Amino acid sequence: MVPEESDAAPQFVAPDVSEEHPESENWIWMGKHRPAIPRALVELMASGWAPGGAASTPRHPAADNFAARRAELSARFAGRNLVIPTGPLKVRSNDTYYRFRPGTDLFWLSGAMEPDTVLIMSAGGDGHTATLYVEPRSDRSSHEFFTDAAYGELWTGPRLGLAETSAHLGVATAPLAGLAAALARLPADSIAVARDVDSRLDSDLSAGDSDEELVAALSEMRLAKDPFEVAMLQQAVDSTIRGFEDIVRALPDAMESGERVVEGAFNTRARLEGHDTGYDTIAASGSHATILHWMRNDGEVNYGDLLLVDAGVECRQLYTADVTRTLPVSGRFTSEQREVYELVLEAQQAAMAEVRPGVPFMAPHRAATRVLAEGLRRLGILTVDPEEALRPDRQLHRRWTLHGTSHMLGLDVHDCANARDDQYHGDLRPGYVLTIEPGLYFQTDDLTVPERYRGIGVRIEDDVLVTDDGFRNLSEALPRDPDEVEAWMARLGARG
Ligand code: GLY
Ligand code: MN
Ligand code: MN
Repeated sequence: MVPEESDAAPQFVAPDVSEEHPESENWIWMGKHRPAIPRALVELMASGWAPGGAASTPRHPAADNFAARRAELSARFAGRNLVIPTGPLKVRSNDTYYRFRPGTDLFWLSGAMEPDTVLIMSAGGDGHTATLYVEPRSDRSSHEFFTDAAYGELWTGPRLGLAETSAHLGVATAPLAGLAAALARLPADSIAVARDVDSRLDSDLSAGDSDEELVAALSEMRLAKDPFEVAMLQQAVDSTIRGFEDIVRALPDAMESGERVVEGAFNTRARLEGHDTGYDTIAASGSHATILHWMRNDGEVNYGDLLLVDAGVECRQLYTADVTRTLPVSGRFTSEQREVYELVLEAQQAAMAEVRPGVPFMAPHRAATRVLAEGLRRLGILTVDPEEALRPDRQLHRRWTLHGTSHMLGLDVHDCANARDDQYHGDLRPGYVLTIEPGLYFQTDDLTVPERYRGIGVRIEDDVLVTDDGFRNLSEALPRDPDEVEAWMARLGARG
């Protein structure tokens, strides 16, 4: 399908008033709690608009990548009909919604950004025919452009329509209203649907044997990133680095007004350069750094504290960074802070040294964990030999390390989550992007920890790409060595 050539104003189709509200010819009934609309207003709204319509829609830079991914999926699922939804708008409260973020699998296969979109890949001939079912524009051709608060263009802005979406993404489109009929034409036992994304489809389509296989395959196909994806991840990381610089510049305000300032500084950068943050920013000052997902961000930021920030910009193509730095608010680490910090950094370096193709996914974690266990022993916190602590049936170090060292990174911050275990935890391959993020967390009330370390939490997290012969740290440009962190903070105006 291609864009229409005409730039004539769309023909307004007046609603059939008598059917919608038979007791009056002069009103259009809009539903509960909503005032009916006078026909006179509808008539006024129906005319007087300049011709125009869809903006020009250049082909998406990754349209060929989307097609290649669909071709690979087609080859894996010969003869089966595939249904992949993006999901609906999500309610924030009552009738207000969060900003829409497309479902990851649908987006990876098509680039479609609009809510409710569904991709059907119907089997036939040698492969599949892909059709995106999308909500048409809610333009001047129906009263919905000013009466529908969720979809009308005067409420939410213009959308790409069917023709524009097709031209932009390089795939056939059809109106969403035809989805049910299209699904009904497919033999029920031939359908695999990506579940848990759109509950309407989950209930309309009975569970099939291939459903799980479909979502697993999509996660596994997403493990190795193509060059476009690597470029987008680098873009997300570069924006994230600028967000961390913003945080350092905002520290004087944060010492006045607390962690909220830190979150605000980073999130402003995320909106400025990206689509959003890839997950809720963690801005954890002082002992909040020992709470892994401290996202309340409502505490104080005090001179002398460490500030742990775990944050990632999601770029406009929806790939996210996931970076953590633990910064001395004063600009200088105290000796206790530096001791813990250097131990975590040593663990991170040991983990990174393991990253190359052919190495098990868990190898970096094992290397980091050994360094942390040995360090905990040196600090007198671990009271048994590290060998014993590390035994699979003991795992005593985990009281202070709490989480794993790596996860896959991509469109989702915890990417490829539906991959089968032997794939996710198999050997690293070129194109994989993963985090390396060891940490140590000494709770304020942990009597096993010398008092001087209590309340210290340190995590250092970078995003690495597995290359043909090793790795590339996408977040290398953000300092992690403690001396370099101090120098970087000083350059940005921290007091020191
Ligand atoms: N930001 C979440 C994580 O590091 O996994
Ligand atoms: Mn993180
Ligand atoms: Mn992470």
